[in-house]
Amino acid sequence: MGRRSVFRDPNKLALSYIPEKIPHREDKLAKLKEYFNDVIFGDLNFEHVFIIGNSGTGKTLIARHFERYLNNVKSNKNIIPIYINARLERSPGNIVRKIISKIPPRIAKRGYSLEEIFSGFLKYINENDIKVVLILDDADHLFNSYKEFIYQLSRADELTSDFKNNLSLLFILHSIDGLSKLDRWTAAGLRKNIIYFEDYTYEELLDILLVRCEEAFHPDAYTLETLETAADTASKYNFNARYAIELMCKAGLIADSRREPIVKPEHVRLARNEVPPSFTEDELKSLHLHEKILLYSIAELLSGSDKAFITTGELERRYIENAHYFSIEPVKHTWLWKMINALSSLGLISKRISSKGYRGKTTLIGLPSFPADLLRKTLYKMIVREVGCDD
Ligand SMILES: Nc1ncnc2c1ncn2[C@@H]1O[C@H](COP(=O)(O)OP(=O)(O)OP(=O)(O)O)[C@@H](O)[C@H]1O
Ligand SMILES: [Mg+2]
Repeated sequence: MGRRSVFRDPNKLALSYIPEKIPHREDKLAKLKEYFNDVIFGDLNFEHVFIIGNSGTGKTLIARHFERYLNNVKSNKNIIPIYINARLERSPGNIVRKIISKIPPRIAKRGYSLEEIFSGFLKYINENDIKVVLILDDADHLFNSYKEFIYQLSRADELTSDFKNNLSLLFILHSIDGLSKLDRWTAAGLRKNIIYFEDYTYEELLDILLVRCEEAFHPDAYTLETLETAADTASKYNFNARYAIELMCKAGLIADSRREPIVKPEHVRLARNEVPPSFTEDELKSLHLHEKILLYSIAELLSGSDKAFITTGELERRYIENAHYFSIEPVKHTWLWKMINALSSLGLISKRISSKGYRGKTTLIGLPSFPADLLRKTLYKMIVREVGCDD
């Protein structure tokens, strides 16, 4: 008999897999169902809800569970959930196109403005007695860069004066900052239903790893110590569950490649050097070239030092150097700020005002949840490919 892999099914650790068991998040899912209860079963036409939490706290997982629940729910209403990752789709145009592509029959779109298409969609769902729950995941940047669109979505009932608005919204954000950027009236209207996803604790991460690894590995192919090492490592990275799971996946691959039958703590420690940061390549690819160079500059500055943060001054200098290095014209100072804000609202970097130890007040930039060195290498390849130069 050939040698056996430690994995029973590695796909069970993939990001796209939606596990049945969701330790420490059952109450959040229940809360979500409760908020939408009167839309699903009663006469409420729409509801607005926010999920807020740091990266790797299970927001997308719960949203996907909720989507599945809505697809299968026994209600005498016609409920259609539409899940959209706003970080990948980016602009309101893409988002609206995606929305209407989910609703049969296709609504005419050629020659119409975004607003007309959107109100056509609202009218259509109303006339056909459909209630849509739009789930906008990773939506932070919409609150910064596309406030008008947020107004349109959240005040759809005003657009629809001659018929009822049947569009519910579930926004998923990393921070509540976005809400305070809206005008007070809209913000107050939206602020009522917020579900916070707190960071996991070490023990919670361990429980999560237990259920996830039980599905993915053979029962005798890992030890509790291995999971503890992964949970401990992820605790250093904001208690990010994604990181903990990816570490276990990589550790399993390392054990397999070394032809060892059991995933051990040392494999997790080795995995640490190799596990991709807590975002996908697609998400990085969807950044604009200058954003990539800016993020690359941050990664470069941080990977070469023991510092937790860099200042915006340092960053600007390095960004300009790098732009020249890649033979492109750097953007102006104000644009640079816009890009810093964009990266921050995408959750890729952190931003804070300096306190002690720095002369005067300056903004500090950090990379909270992923290894700078790996980010640097990944981005370097992408940028080189994009600008079409080899070194
Ligand atoms: N309670 C849990 N039980 C089982 N798996 C979990 C749990 N919480 C998170 N996970 C897993 O951890 C990974 C990260 O979770 P998820 O993608 O939902 O995080 P997120 O809050 O959406 O992060 P981001 O803000 O970066 O998008 C996923 O693989 C998810 O399935
Ligand atoms: Mg997510």
